[in-house]
Amino acid sequence: MKPCYFVSWVCLGVLMTSGWAAGADPVVIAHRGASGYLPEHTLEAYALAYGMGADFIEPDLVLTKDGHFIALHDIHLQSTTDVETRYPERHRDDGEWYAADFTLEEVRQLRAHERLKNRFPEEKSAFHVPTLEEVIELVQGLNETTGRNVGIYPELKEPSWHAKQGMPMEEKLLAVLNAYGYTGPESAIFVQCFEPDTLKKLRNELKCALPLIQLISSHKIQASMVTQEGIKEIAAYADGIGPDKSLVEKNPQLVTWAHENQLKVHPYTVRADSLPGGFATVDAEFDALFRECGVDGLFTDFPDLAIAYLKGAGKR
Ligand code: G3P
Ligand code: CA
Repeated sequence: MKPCYFVSWVCLGVLMTSGWAAGADPVVIAHRGASGYLPEHTLEAYALAYGMGADFIEPDLVLTKDGHFIALHDIHLQSTTDVETRYPERHRDDGEWYAADFTLEEVRQLRAHERLKNRFPEEKSAFHVPTLEEVIELVQGLNETTGRNVGIYPELKEPSWHAKQGMPMEEKLLAVLNAYGYTGPESAIFVQCFEPDTLKKLRNELKCALPLIQLISSHKIQASMVTQEGIKEIAAYADGIGPDKSLVEKNPQLVTWAHENQLKVHPYTVRADSLPGGFATVDAEFDALFRECGVDGLFTDFPDLAIAYLKGAGKR
């Protein structure tokens, strides 16, 4: 059975109880900024996403050697910067250049570039790796100048790896967020992580009241979360789930289970230049996720297209 038919039939099966998410209009999360147009995790990509009307801006976060959060998808630097040419000797024995081995001042010397092919050309213009504080100040500054209330959606990357390096992330993240006024459940923020222990530590040990999102990958190891029981367990420490979109498209009932447990559902990642089999257009995929499956929001590299879709559907 082709994926499109599979999705449509399964979605049809839950349409009686699903459809558009109840309550607020679904949110658009700019995945790594407007990364379909400008290099991921740069201030330029975040600013463009803001201008396109995104509701949340997503920085992934890792730590530098001197303890600064920087916006980077990987614990390694080489996929999206010129670290290999600028610091050729600074890799570990495994051949990787770790952000945790570089000071912020050193990271500031790097030029950032897009990771995916056929997007913003490498070695054009000049982009840099921003700190979390710079991302927040950009978004909050724009909120002041526009009167909007766009949020941030930070992801802690590999906190257990950081802890093993003697660099726990959780307290440090809360300190930065609190300093910028993100303190309670109504703050314009979601904190996301793949590692349940980090979310449990934030909620139970550090008494973090900020909305927390349990990311769920499509890898087997996290599959146990995608059951009715698994979803109930997540509801004990988180406020929503961020599943790989394929999990929702294959099993839209996941959305119903989540909503029964008062969990929001924000799948990742819709990419207009990389549509899954069965979707002829990006609007068809938006339609399946937003309208048929009833998700509360989604991550996309193309926030302008998601906003345009929602406007066309009367949800903006
Ligand atoms: O945070 C949602 C999504 O970005 C998780 O996957 O690998 O793109 O960070 P990744
Ligand atoms: Ca992410």
